[in-house]
Amino acid sequence: MVGVVGLGTMGAGIAEVFARAGLRVIGVEADPEALARGRGHLERSTGRAVDRGKLTGGERDEILGRITLTTSRDDLRDADLVVEAIPEILDYKVSLLEDLDRICKPETVLATNTSSLSVTAVAAATGRPGRVVGMHFFNPAPVMRLVEVVGTVVTEPSVVAGITELSVRLGKTPVTVGDRAGFVVNRLLLPYLNHAAVLLDLGLAGRDEIDTAMRLGVGLPMGPFALLDLIGLDTAYEIMGVLFDETRDRRHAPAPVLRELVTAGLLGRKTGRGFHGFHGFPGDETAPREPERVAGVTFGVAGDDTSSIAEALVKAGFAESDDPDVLLRLSDRPVVEHAVRVRRPSSLVGVHLVGDQVAELAATVLTSPEAARAAAGLMAAIGRTPVPCKDRAGFVVDALLYPYLNDAVRMYDSGYASIADIDAAMRLGCGYPAGPFEMIESLGLARVRDGLRALYAEHREPAYAPAPLLDQLVTAGMTAFPRP
Ligand SMILES: NC(=O)c1ccc[n+]([C@@H]2O[C@H](COP(=O)([O-])OP(=O)(O)OC[C@H]3O[C@@H](n4cnc5c(N)ncnc54)[C@H](O)[C@@H]3O)[C@@H](O)[C@H]2O)c1
Repeated sequence: MVGVVGLGTMGAGIAEVFARAGLRVIGVEADPEALARGRGHLERSTGRAVDRGKLTGGERDEILGRITLTTSRDDLRDADLVVEAIPEILDYKVSLLEDLDRICKPETVLATNTSSLSVTAVAAATGRPGRVVGMHFFNPAPVMRLVEVVGTVVTEPSVVAGITELSVRLGKTPVTVGDRAGFVVNRLLLPYLNHAAVLLDLGLAGRDEIDTAMRLGVGLPMGPFALLDLIGLDTAYEIMGVLFDETRDRRHAPAPVLRELVTAGLLGRKTGRGFHGFHGFPGDETAPREPERVAGVTFGVAGDDTSSIAEALVKAGFAESDDPDVLLRLSDRPVVEHAVRVRRPSSLVGVHLVGDQVAELAATVLTSPEAARAAAGLMAAIGRTPVPCKDRAGFVVDALLYPYLNDAVRMYDSGYASIADIDAAMRLGCGYPAGPFEMIESLGLARVRDGLRALYAEHREPAYAPAPLLDQLVTAGMTAFPRP
């Protein structure tokens, strides 16, 4: 028998997961009103599954029939496992665990669904730290397949193994990790989201442009600001604070704009406004842009492999010229050094094609607004979404993606998690099309290493220096990571 304490967003979903797997569940809430809300969550969630044809009415009744709801913690005395999903406040969790330690039989395993608190600190509140683990589900728990199973330095290995096996029985994919702030997913995801907020604050590109570049260019299900709004900016701010406290890495300091939005009560979807849905913020161009009128604009293309873009533009009816209105300089590096060498620097715009849908367009300090607008119109005319940005190393996509990939390599190299687990965690926990190692391999190890070097050279940020493992694999001529 399994206990779940706290039947909010996560706890109700976790109770449902256990009941769906045939286990008897005791769900505990703080008071009768909260219990009624918990029952509502369970009924709605299973009801939706029936509406979608995922469950029959009979199965739903069986699932709900396995869940006993109560406001008394004492009812957990015979539970074999209790998972707590009460609010993310250490004092609350410590006091709950002290109580559970007293109430439950000595063999009971106590699990916390904390996203960012120290499992070790929670475990230390009990007289059975060896039987305390993290069991980190993702939202919505019945749907998301990933579970991060977190063992502390004192957790008994058999307890970690048992919870890992149980997770498989629940139909989940467990990854087993140690107790570091953020575990795998939040440790890799949140710094990337925070970095996007920092870049927005610096005016690298607009909010929608950054979201579009990551969605269409990398194939992520959502851009970083849409995802931050979904997670909740207060939650993101808190997790960044916890990461910073542990790592003292200044990249983990919450972006100032997050603090501003949180203080203003603009927390994202849950309050109706966050990065999206409010006006007057730099980059907040909510109205869909009119395609630029570019009829009659002449173009030139320079750089490597110019033929396909030149052909596409000619096919779209534009004329190539030796003294063009817009000189498109294909490059994956800043282009100002090329601008100073051409006859009309104001006409030069850097173009970085990302995937087959996006064209990042770097305007240098010399680029005229007319040329920048015309370049956007030309790209739209050949079916690419223009992402105007400043002329900085990595432009938008590589500047955001490569440090994230580098963090994943460093995480693996530190022995924290396996390549397969990190890839699975990011695919299943974030809905990414590929894990970071799969992404590096499809981009090319050397390309990522070189891109990181360029970012490092520009920002002198130690964390952008290519992870030694990545650098060595490139030097050794490898095109894939060694997997056992
Ligand atoms: N929301 C997410 O996306 C998400 C994802 C993974 C993990 N988590 C973690 O899960 C935990 C819960 O988050 P949530 O989003 O479900 O919060 P929530 O606020 O939706 O739910 C918390 C529930 O706990 C109940 N509660 C509070 N004190 C209690 C007590 N003493 N005894 C019994 N019940 C009590 C509340 O009434 C509420 O229903 C947190 O640790 C959070 O970090 C959240």
